Amino acid sequence: MRVLSGIQPSGKLHLGNYFGAMVQHLALQHEHECFYFIANYHAMTSVQDADLMRQLTLDVALDYLALGLDPDKAIFFRQSDVPEVTELTWILGTVTGKGLLERAHSYKDKIAKNIMPSMGLFNYPILMAADILIYRSNWVPVGQDQVQHIEMTQDMASYFNNTYKCEALVRPEPRLNEAAWVPGVDGQKMSKSYDNTIELFGDAKETTKQIMGIKTDSTPVEDPKDPERCNVFALLRLMAEPEEAADWEQRYRRGGTGYGEAKKRLAELHEQRFGPARALRAKLAADPDAVEDVLREGGRKARSVAREVMEDVRQACGILCAADH
Ligand code: ADP
Ligand code: TRP
Repeated sequence: MRVLSGIQPSGKLHLGNYFGAMVQHLALQHEHECFYFIANYHAMTSVQDADLMRQLTLDVALDYLALGLDPDKAIFFRQSDVPEVTELTWILGTVTGKGLLERAHSYKDKIAKNIMPSMGLFNYPILMAADILIYRSNWVPVGQDQVQHIEMTQDMASYFNNTYKCEALVRPEPRLNEAAWVPGVDGQKMSKSYDNTIELFGDAKETTKQIMGIKTDSTPVEDPKDPERCNVFALLRLMAEPEEAADWEQRYRRGGTGYGEAKKRLAELHEQRFGPARALRAKLAADPDAVEDVLREGGRKARSVAREVMEDVRQACGILCAADH
C-alpha cells in the first residue's frame, strides 16, 4: 500500500498529534511505502512570520526523526519541495463545487474561533486533496478530525476522473488509530490552536505543570470515580501498559485514589516515554544541515513521483506544459 500523511508546522507537537497520527506513521513505515511531509503551505493559514515558519518546520522534522522516523524507510519531505501540489490544487478547484467546501467542519470551527477566513483557509481541503492525490496514495493515517477532509478528497478524485473520463486519480481511504480523539487539558480536543496541549518535547518541569493542570471534577479522594469521564484517565490509558491502565481503572471505580496521584503517574510515564527521545532530539538539533539534507533528499524522491502523476493529469485535461516534453 502507498501511505501518505502530513502534519502542519503550526506549533509544537503534542500528545494528540502523537497518539492520533504519529504512532501510526511510525509503525506503518516498516510495512508499507510511506510518504510523510511537513505541511508548510497549509501552516501559512496561521503562521505568517518567516523566521517562525522556518523554526517550526525544523522542530517538526526533529520531533519525527527523534521518535524514530527512518528516512531510509519512509520518504520524509516538506510540502513546498513539491510545488506541483499547488498546480493540482488549482485543477481540482475547477471541478469542485463551492458547496462541498462550505460544509467543512474544520473551516467552520476555525471561523467560530475568530481565525481570519482567508481564501487559503477556505481552499485548505483542496490543497490537502492535492497532497494526497498527487502520489496516488491508498491510505491516509490521521486523527478523527481529518476524516471529513479525506472524504472530500475521495469526492474530488471522482469529480476529476468523471469530468475527464479517465482514471488518473486514485480514491484514498482514511486510517484511524484507536486514539483518534485525544482530549486536551481542558477536555476539548487537544489542539495547537486551543492552547490546551501537553507537548512531546517541552521542558520537563513545564510538562509536569501542564499535566498537573488537567481539568477534573471535584469528586473527593475517597469517593468512587468514573474513569470514562476523566481526562487524566483518558491519557493514562494511552501512556501506560494495558495491565497498569486496568489497575488504574479499578482504583478509580473503588475510590480512595485522588486525581493528583493519577496526574503524578502520568507525568512519570510521559518522562519515561519521551525522555530518551528528547536527548536524541537535542543531538540532532546540533546539526540542522543534516536534517536539511534528509528533507531535500525526501523532496527529490517525492517530486519525481508527483511529476509523473501530473503528466497524466495534464494529459487528461489537455493542458500543455513544456516540462512534460
Ligand atoms: P492541531 O489540531 O494541533 O493543529 P494538526 O491539525 O496539525 O493538529 O494535526 C496533525 C495530525 O494529528 C492529524 O492527523 C490530526 O488528526 C492529529 N491530531 C491532532 N490533534 C489530535 C487529537 N487531539 N486527537 C487525535 N488526533 C489528533
Ligand atoms: N490537514 C492536516 C492536519 O491539519 C495536515 C495535512 C495536510 C494532511 N495535508 C495532508 C494530512 C494530507 C494528511 C494528508 O492535520
